[in-house]
Amino acid sequence: MFFNGLRAYHTDHIVEVNMKKTATKLTKEELELQRSFSDKIKEIYKNKKNGTAKAFVDTYGCQQNFADSEMIKGMLIDMGFELTDDENQADIAVFNTCAIREHAEMRVLGNVGKLKQRKKSGDDLVIVVCGCMAQQEQMKDKILKSYPYVDILFGTYALYTFPELFYEYLTEKKRAFDISGDETGRIFEGIHLERDRSIKANLPIMYGCNNFCTYCIVPYVRGRERSRDKEDIIRDFKDILKAGYKEITLLGQNVNSYGSDRGYETDFADLLDELASIEGDYIIRFMTSHPKDATEKLFKVMAKHDTIAKQLHLPFQSGSDRILESMNRGYTKEKYLGLIDMARKYMPDISFSSDVIVGFPGEVYEDFEKTLEIVKTVKYDQLFTFIYSRRPGTKAALMEDVITAEEKQKMFDELLKVQQDIGLERNTAEIGKTFKTLVDGESFDENFPLSTHIEGGRLVKAKGDKSLIGKFARVKVTKASPHALFGEIVE
Ligand code: SAH
Ligand code: SF4
Ligand code: F3S
Repeated sequence: MFFNGLRAYHTDHIVEVNMKKTATKLTKEELELQRSFSDKIKEIYKNKKNGTAKAFVDTYGCQQNFADSEMIKGMLIDMGFELTDDENQADIAVFNTCAIREHAEMRVLGNVGKLKQRKKSGDDLVIVVCGCMAQQEQMKDKILKSYPYVDILFGTYALYTFPELFYEYLTEKKRAFDISGDETGRIFEGIHLERDRSIKANLPIMYGCNNFCTYCIVPYVRGRERSRDKEDIIRDFKDILKAGYKEITLLGQNVNSYGSDRGYETDFADLLDELASIEGDYIIRFMTSHPKDATEKLFKVMAKHDTIAKQLHLPFQSGSDRILESMNRGYTKEKYLGLIDMARKYMPDISFSSDVIVGFPGEVYEDFEKTLEIVKTVKYDQLFTFIYSRRPGTKAALMEDVITAEEKQKMFDELLKVQQDIGLERNTAEIGKTFKTLVDGESFDENFPLSTHIEGGRLVKAKGDKSLIGKFARVKVTKASPHALFGEIVE
């Protein structure tokens, strides 16, 4: 593994070396081998638990990780487990982790720690840690040493070998750890997956990331960009529609570079065009779009189809060209705002959301003011704001801060306040308007019992009958707060 720990600095070299390889799908033999381990585990638990074995899966991080957990759940069901939301009832607890910020890692370790007591008191419980945090060499070492009650650990590359590792643990009675795998990665086709929800489905179209933004751990823990076959995506898309889902979110760390590993035979705009032409009553969303790869062609396709939500999650991270350069983002503030204008030219009512980092090394208040300028100019429907977190092994981890943590926090609070005012202003402007909306569940607000999301992605809590859940309807907005809209279903 040369992707973990401190050897990962020479990113340009790594990209150059590994872009030459092509990712391969899992073979029939590999899938069958894993299924044979699943069958054996099923037998073992049948004898132990007489068909009542339960599995708890706890997922952290982004939608991609939630999509991976759907595979883990599918594998657990194949092994004969029933899923439970109660970790105290579980015979196996799986923590699918995230490494994006230190806080995410601390949170998962805290939750794993809570199960220590059950193990100590002699419960027959298996604890598994997997996902992005586990893929890091130094984390594997830390868990091996300091978390002796973690029985199985595997990274993102070895996910499909979970049944094999579990069987090894059960039969050899020793901890099973595997963070091996080639950063070129594999494309996981053919694994049974158990979707989390009805109504809304996630559909990964690609894995990994080649961008190496200097603050970000993702390229190190998820490997190189690899696009799924168009045919596999279309097949899944149709299956999802057939199963009755109404909203499909196409997933990738940078969907705009879909196909780059295959010479752009089909690019993202082509793929989207083809999917959105499929007959049915549904809406497509996608994330994430990297601004450096967003194209006019994409906006034209979005504008062309009623089945594509007029919503774009377009993270800008910082408004300062100096900081953007240091982040290796590949665009300037001017180019970013130009893209926003171009998208609005084709879709005047489009909603934007974004991610922003405050306190990147070297950032000073003058840089932050430029971030505020973007926020005030674009007026996002939703803004995901983060204080920079140093990730060992990334380039930015070697860069120095020039301001204090307190100063960063003050800037962060200022950003929140600015966005809160914009949210309220934008939401208040919708009062009296009527929107097409997908009723996707209960809101747990007794006055506005339905949870619905309008095309731009905003939540409207609505009065209306629960029989509408799972259907498209029209909602009239009657009230607004900074973070939500309220209304009633009108037809
Ligand atoms: N692929 C997506 C982002 C995935 S991570 C993209 O390029 O937009 C989601 C967000 O987490 C990022 O957009 C960034 O804002 C934030 N993030 C990533 N690394 C971070 C770090 N080290 N500290 C703070 N925020 C970070
Ligand atoms: Fe991280 Fe940048 Fe890749 Fe997004 S594009 S996952 S922020 S390296
Ligand atoms: Fe976290 Fe991995 Fe996603 S680091 S944000 S779970 S790709």
